[in-house]
Amino acid sequence: MCGIIGIASNKAVSTNIIESLKRLEYRGYDSAGLATLHNNQILEKKCTGRVEKLEKILFKNPALGSVGIGHVRWATHGVPNEVNAHPHSSEIVSVVHNGIIENSDQLKKDLESNGIKFKSQTDTEVITLLLTEEIKNESPIKSVQKTLKKLKGSFALGIIFKSFDNLIVGARRGSPLAVGYAKDENYLGSDSYALKSMTNKISYLDDGDVCVLTKNSVEFYNLEEKKINKKVHTLSDDKNLAEKGDYKNFMSKEIFEQPITVKNGINEYVDKIKNDINLYNFPIDPKSMEKIVLIACGTAYHSCLVAKYWFEEMSNIEVEIDVASEFRYRKIKFNKKNLYIFVSQSGETADTAAALQLCKDNNVKTCSVVNVVESSIARNSDWVLPLHAGPEVGVASTKAFLGQMLILYILCLKISFNRNEVNKDEYIQKINNLIKLPKAIDDILKKEDQIQLVAKDIYESKGSMFLGRGTSFPIALEGALKLKELSYLHAEGYPAGEMKHGPLALIEDGLPVIVIAPKDKYFEKTFSNTQEVIARGGKVLLITDKHEMVINENIRFKIDVPFIEESLSPFILTIPLQLLAYHVALLKNCDIDKPRNLAKSVTVE
Ligand code: M6R
Repeated sequence: MCGIIGIASNKAVSTNIIESLKRLEYRGYDSAGLATLHNNQILEKKCTGRVEKLEKILFKNPALGSVGIGHVRWATHGVPNEVNAHPHSSEIVSVVHNGIIENSDQLKKDLESNGIKFKSQTDTEVITLLLTEEIKNESPIKSVQKTLKKLKGSFALGIIFKSFDNLIVGARRGSPLAVGYAKDENYLGSDSYALKSMTNKISYLDDGDVCVLTKNSVEFYNLEEKKINKKVHTLSDDKNLAEKGDYKNFMSKEIFEQPITVKNGINEYVDKIKNDINLYNFPIDPKSMEKIVLIACGTAYHSCLVAKYWFEEMSNIEVEIDVASEFRYRKIKFNKKNLYIFVSQSGETADTAAALQLCKDNNVKTCSVVNVVESSIARNSDWVLPLHAGPEVGVASTKAFLGQMLILYILCLKISFNRNEVNKDEYIQKINNLIKLPKAIDDILKKEDQIQLVAKDIYESKGSMFLGRGTSFPIALEGALKLKELSYLHAEGYPAGEMKHGPLALIEDGLPVIVIAPKDKYFEKTFSNTQEVIARGGKVLLITDKHEMVINENIRFKIDVPFIEESLSPFILTIPLQLLAYHVALLKNCDIDKPRNLAKSVTVE
């Protein structure tokens, strides 16, 4: 969370800082700010709310200077107000920060006991004031290195110094940070995406690294304070994919792009002529794999839950799944014969990255399923399986979820085939069915009108419930997550069979209950649970691919979705749930692409 930008140039930087902050807003959007150096002074501008507001402030009152830092905030310490917005400046230094300083309370007490006064409630200001003391006797780089030694926690920093009008210092511990290069201009950014409009030449800081930028030079120092060289990466050019075109917002674009997302994934991994899956260089031979461990957060975790059912159906391999924030602190029995798979759209999620690092430290084989191939998680894994979904900008993950399920499905099929647990005929049949998926997704997207009607019917409710069994249970969880994050309507996802163990008490007259019931071995049981809901006044929306089913008049809405084969139903059943959340949020006038309190890339614990 939080986005950092820094530019050292030979021309005014504030316009480019604003443009980069707009690209970084997916990381946080409760306040924004920048600081530039001009006439031996730090000029600081900040505001609550969006970068657009900051831009208007600058329009009236420009921030001159050819060196500057900028920030978009996702509040951790202190409410989102102007004082707590970054940068945090003293007379001498100005700091932007992403991450959390875990010992900030103690450091603050120490500084206060020396008569030093704080303006904000943030942990960041501790860094500003420590640096302000250190710089009195040290060079900028030394003062940063000495300050870093006092900090606990994870962070990325961008710092400018009043008396050094051509200098930015950056530092990374835990939170990602990249450096970009151009002629007479160098950049610091939370990620390569922020820098992409200015350069495609990027280096990434590793944990403990410090960088020193001027307009013509970049130097890197490692944890031991030794000067080091960094690899320069050339980024691919996918700028246009991150535009929303004629769509109202990124989320609707991303929902409607899903047939293409799936098609791209299939084209990348499936050989349609040979009826085979192009996956090679497994870090462990599938035949000798003992267990697959899937680790992720949020929506990505839901894709792992679905994959667990697939692996269990198709192969004999044992599968374990965990949310990264739990996995990273568990007492894991690591096994070199297990493959540890990390699923993440951004590839920068702090908990997932830390769980991956734990695996690396224990010398086990890792694989990442990521959308952003230049991300920290991708760079730190033994084997990378990109989604090829293109940039996902809406905070609510949609096309990346389908992309994640697709890669996990393909991986499961290939591993099961290599282990002789799926025979050649089944393998070919499943590949042929998979190829039909983009068309089926396209067909369900055409039902948007029907889903709009349902949205109208439920958007004023106090809460809602999503039920499913088998792979439809994680899809229920995903439907509930989408609805709550986009529309702030309380939503619970449950395995349908668990209802009677407590949640049934919540069912009352008119409560919307969304039942996901494809034609699988669970259908009859889920349908009985639906009757229990109806008997207690629940208002049921049934989503099913069992078209021959006689509709019970007590079911308020039924959405029929296409059927290809049972194991592919999670892809198809997800689409109406995304559209439902989207339309409820639209009716409630919510900010679709930037739901309150959230950020696209969760880079703090
Ligand atoms: O970038 P990641 O896939 O690692 O992100 C994980 C979650 O933060 C993310 O899926 C989150 O739950 C989404 N906002 C859900 O729509």
